[in-house]
Amino acid sequence: MRGRDGRVPVVRDVASLRQVVKAWRAAGETVGLVPTMGGLHDGHLALARQAKEECSRAVATIFVNPKQFDRKEDLESYPRDEARDLSLLAGAGCDLVFAPEVGEMYPAGFVSTVSVSELTEVLDGLHRPGHFDGVTTVVCKLLLQALPDRAYFGEKDFQQLTIVTRMVRDLEIPVTIRPVDTVREADGLAMASRNQLLTATQRQLAPLFAEVLMETAEELAGGAAEAAPALTRARLRLGRGGFTKVDYVELRAAADLAPLSRADRPARVLGAAWLGSTRLIDNVPVPERG
Ligand code: PAF
Repeated sequence: MRGRDGRVPVVRDVASLRQVVKAWRAAGETVGLVPTMGGLHDGHLALARQAKEECSRAVATIFVNPKQFDRKEDLESYPRDEARDLSLLAGAGCDLVFAPEVGEMYPAGFVSTVSVSELTEVLDGLHRPGHFDGVTTVVCKLLLQALPDRAYFGEKDFQQLTIVTRMVRDLEIPVTIRPVDTVREADGLAMASRNQLLTATQRQLAPLFAEVLMETAEELAGGAAEAAPALTRARLRLGRGGFTKVDYVELRAAADLAPLSRADRPARVLGAAWLGSTRLIDNVPVPERG
């Protein structure tokens, strides 16, 4: 449903979104949803391309969700460039963009919250109060508004992916959550909208983050080694390498984020660390041996 000028059509209200998706589904088409907050990079475009490969229609959403920002400065500095985002989404094959204003998503009197317990009380949940309630509330709304067949989330935000998958299962929302591999820059840095906020010096330091996580995962591969000393070394290396603060580097079970002392089941090493006022998160799978 590309516009005649090659642009992707944009709707800003829920009724129009529903109308278009309903017509597609009535015609037997399948719909893939790609929720984003804009500030798009190749990681988002990989989600859109996979949606388009697996579904006959791909719908992206652009909404900087105020409810998931725990710091006012972070919300204010979040990169926004809708014209650029729309042209990238058109290039990735998206058929429709839903880009609502805050008042459309949270009209006056909106008082509901969708909250997932346990999985949100660890890792980023400890460092960003209220963040995941904001994520699950908006993702639940977007899924119910669009009613897609599949929805696409990057493994870069592994905790978010795990939480959204559990929410969908617990609430029996009729959608399949599809994980998509993290997309990295040539030097290993995981693509993220906030990378744009790094200074030139910070950008040079940033790839150490992925390097340390990958080396730690390699050390813990196969499940023989104790995790604690390797995780302590990882945190120290980041501190010595110019990261101003390390929120965490942890080994967790891939299925349910349970803490592990060894990688004796499918596991990920997850981290969050600061370069000045920019917070980076990343995670890598621990290789399973033999
Ligand atoms: O990952 C993101 O960009 C956001 O958390 C999401 C899923 C679009 C919800 O606002």
